[in-house]
Amino acid sequence: MINTIKYEKFVNQLKQFIEKEKLQNQSTLGKILKVNNEIIDVSLKKPIKLPLNTHLEVNKIQCTLHKNNQKNIQLKTKHPQHFQKNQTIKINNIQQDIILSKIQQTLTNIEENKINQENKETLKTIINQQKTTYTQKKYTNKKLNPKQEQAVKKAITTEKFHIIKGPPGTGKTHTITQIIRQLYQEQQTILLTTHTHIALDNILEKLDDIPQQDIIRLGINEKIAPTTQKYTLQKQLQQHPKYKQIQQLQQQSKTTITHNNKQTLLSKLINKIINTEEIKIQQLQEKEKIEEQEKTREQIEKIESQIQEELLDNAKIIATTVISSSNYLTRNIEFDYTIMDESSQIPVYLAIIPLMKTDKFLLIGDDQQLQPISNKNASYFLNKSIFNLMIEKYPKNHTFLDTQYRMNEKISQIASKLYYNNKLKTHESAKKKQIQLTNNNYYLLDNSTITFIDTTNTTYNEDVISGGCQNTHETLLILKIVEALIDNQIREDDIGIITPYRKQKLNIQSHLRKHKYNIETDTIYRFQGREKDVIIISFCKSSYKSLTTFQKKFLGNTNQLNVSITRSRKKLIIIGDYSLLSTDENLKAFLDSISPLDMIYLEDIIR
Ligand SMILES: Nc1ncnc2c1ncn2[C@@H]1O[C@H](COP(=O)(O)OP(=O)(O)OP(=O)(O)O)[C@@H](O)[C@H]1O
Ligand SMILES: [Mg+2]
Repeated sequence: MINTIKYEKFVNQLKQFIEKEKLQNQSTLGKILKVNNEIIDVSLKKPIKLPLNTHLEVNKIQCTLHKNNQKNIQLKTKHPQHFQKNQTIKINNIQQDIILSKIQQTLTNIEENKINQENKETLKTIINQQKTTYTQKKYTNKKLNPKQEQAVKKAITTEKFHIIKGPPGTGKTHTITQIIRQLYQEQQTILLTTHTHIALDNILEKLDDIPQQDIIRLGINEKIAPTTQKYTLQKQLQQHPKYKQIQQLQQQSKTTITHNNKQTLLSKLINKIINTEEIKIQQLQEKEKIEEQEKTREQIEKIESQIQEELLDNAKIIATTVISSSNYLTRNIEFDYTIMDESSQIPVYLAIIPLMKTDKFLLIGDDQQLQPISNKNASYFLNKSIFNLMIEKYPKNHTFLDTQYRMNEKISQIASKLYYNNKLKTHESAKKKQIQLTNNNYYLLDNSTITFIDTTNTTYNEDVISGGCQNTHETLLILKIVEALIDNQIREDDIGIITPYRKQKLNIQSHLRKHKYNIETDTIYRFQGREKDVIIISFCKSSYKSLTTFQKKFLGNTNQLNVSITRSRKKLIIIGDYSLLSTDENLKAFLDSISPLDMIYLEDIIR
């Protein structure tokens, strides 16, 4: 039995969330200042707080947010001909509208009892406390270490769900591919879903041994990696035997158009000479032409949707991001299994979309890595990541992948001690990973695994600017380190720079550009799931006076710290002011784990 009070509370929280989001998401009015090719300058009545590249619907035309300076924004569109100077426009956040309509649909299905018994059981496990059991089955796999093998075994024998916790580089993706292979052999249908397109592509790229037609990748084409484009509906459609019919119709339609065009030209000529009768004939012909085209288009669409349905019906694995897991194509499909990677970044209010389409589910993630960005319209429960919620509720239903293959042991030992109760081990193959230096003459660079450059007692303070934080001194230090790395034959592509502040990110990027370096620099959110040989972290802050409580919390957030340091395979360079950073207990614990031998005290050098 589902607990009625908890169920109603859950439904009410979802309803309130949708209502608040809709209110906040009402359309914004603006006036066009300039149209310059595909870029449109707009002045707004009130500012919109949306990230760049958000998809927007402007007077029903698709645009993206190109620049956002409070009340002045720039839009980008492929259809600038629909816009002109001084025009008043209505801007809708279509991306959010679509997400909300999917949550709403899921909620309606729950409320109107349109979900099956298995989905009800899933709801119970999320809302109540519901035990799950495992059946017996033999499973061995030489490609997996003992914990990975155990994770697959639990995944294929669970009666409801299983959780796999994997610190960085412990083979989450590798294990998922083996789970998929096993379930595929057992003829189970799978919804493979992740938070990002990249994570999805990472998994699909490793499933080449499964026949192409058994996997369908849904999503917007430009977001899908070239290596997995072959799985898209569009590509599979073109290989279907019935696709010839579509091609014939397209050909036929082209012939009709040229044929009709010739007639129109001819009639125009005669028309000039004589009478209005010809105009009528011409109009009639035009009408017939349009009707014929319309008919062909409808026929093509009908065949297309028949093929699409057939492809989706026959597919064993459908891969899509969480948000797209329920669309007009998949809304009626139920799966035996849902596999959700990166589930520690997926809030409950989104996770329910794919979870209401499946019998069993597997959550893969890490509660010590990045969590969803909190939405102020959602309750604490709805904002929580589905992974954290479930692992806290059901600690016994998880397998911990304990061996990492990515980092030098020194880096992983710090993460292990601080965030994984000393339980994270390093595989032999990774223990001694190290950069090779050919020029040892740089004082900021040696081949040790970790270097902390301490700016305490120096004038390396942040710039005096309003809003955000940037520190040009640290940026110039980074430039010197980059120069040393490049001189030592380390490729730009193997270096990454992470900073907690957007302003500092832009500052570093602009300095790198000036020196023609092409090095990925970003805030931590863009680096989750990624790795580089060398990672440089710029903490940026150095003045206690301007360190607000929020910033303190943000700088010392252990999940962000954990992800930042575990991106590097061979070398980690940290720049920061120890006296300031160590006022935060989490940062102090981290900095104190670094050996004094790995510290560079900048004040000694620049004195
Ligand atoms: N059992 C194994 N034997 C040999 N190599 C392995 C094994 N498991 C994982 N690896 C290797 O370790 C590396 C990391 O694996 P994978 O990408 O699956 O980890 P992950 O946990 O998904 O990492 P991330 O935290 O980046 O998402 C890969 O190169 C993978 O091939
Ligand atoms: Mg992975």
